[in-house]
Amino acid sequence: MTARLGTLDQFPPAERYVYMDAASVGLSQKSGAEAISKWQQALADDGTVAFDEQAEVDCLDGLNNAAAALFNAGTSDIAVASSETVLMASLAWAVMPAAGTNIVATDTTHPSTIYPWIRVAQTTGAEVRWAHAGDDLAIDADELESLIDDRTSVVCLSHAEYGTGQTYDLKRFADAAHRHGAVCIVDATQSAGQVAIDVAATGVDAVATSTYKWLCGPFGTGFMYVAPALQKLNPGIVGWRSHEDMWDFQADRLVLPQSAKRFEFGTMAYGTALGATQAVNYLLEIGIERIFDHNRVISGRLRDGLQGLGAEILGPGDAASRSATVAARFPGKDSAAFARTLKDRQVIASLRGDFIRFSPHLYNSSDDIDRGLAAIGEAL
Ligand SMILES: Cc1ncc(COP(=O)(O)O)c(C=O)c1O
Repeated sequence: MTARLGTLDQFPPAERYVYMDAASVGLSQKSGAEAISKWQQALADDGTVAFDEQAEVDCLDGLNNAAAALFNAGTSDIAVASSETVLMASLAWAVMPAAGTNIVATDTTHPSTIYPWIRVAQTTGAEVRWAHAGDDLAIDADELESLIDDRTSVVCLSHAEYGTGQTYDLKRFADAAHRHGAVCIVDATQSAGQVAIDVAATGVDAVATSTYKWLCGPFGTGFMYVAPALQKLNPGIVGWRSHEDMWDFQADRLVLPQSAKRFEFGTMAYGTALGATQAVNYLLEIGIERIFDHNRVISGRLRDGLQGLGAEILGPGDAASRSATVAARFPGKDSAAFARTLKDRQVIASLRGDFIRFSPHLYNSSDDIDRGLAAIGEAL
């Protein structure tokens, strides 16, 4: 029996449902959610008396520190904003891959990982070069690496793919990018919180994530690691927070901070950052490696059980390229209708394309998995 690592006092819905949907929206860590409500209420009650100008400068510091610890980065290498997408968009315009260069990506990547780069490429004339998945939606990592050449400017990857959870060896792809003078940019929205990310050991150039999935935080917050070498770039999105002293309003000049903070540009739902800080620190206290090991056990049990029920499992065959997401098709079943049936039985997963994506996390136990499998077996 594998007990929950995330306890029910912090994740009460884990008792009510067999909740296997972190790849869509993770269960929110309860004290983080409470911190957000408290901040919002204080603002409603007292306005700037509760949240003054200094607070508006300092309010992202906690998340900045937590994110640095999560990625093994320096605190000046982190920018906080409202989502992965805005941070990635700003970075793509900052890097601005030129005509004659190519951007390497997989065709199973999430749109928010690659659309910003496609948009820039439409303007500059850079090429987007795709690694194509097979019928099982697995990407061949060797084939992906073989696309990188001396004309590559950017290798842009979802660390874990949103559909199958396939993961990539970040050091391998950062090294390959660097050998050809390119940068390796990572979207960690499907990995941060479940797979360890060490920017120092892997040498990746930037890592952006939202917080509402495997980090068990809220919507409305994201953060990005930016390697020191990229901290000279001119962000694609700028605003009043972009200036090195944000309260020194002066419209006719912009002096960007000499740190990743130059990618912070405006107001956001600041209270969400407080909740995200608590959630990230909660996970860090448990330990990401421990969460990974736990998730490996319960997702392996789920995978084996689904196969035993006749399901076709998608994604890579080798365990080293897998995270906790398990993507499955059930022969003879319409996935959309079957996902609804499972929801009626309190088994929460998500429909993606023509398959069902199960994504258990630290708040699931092996008993949950068995309960889920029993319900799926009955539904079949
Ligand atoms: C890999 C990845 N990136 C980004 C997103 C969503 O981005 P955002 O939170 O910025 O809307 C998702 C959501 O499913 C995702 O899976």
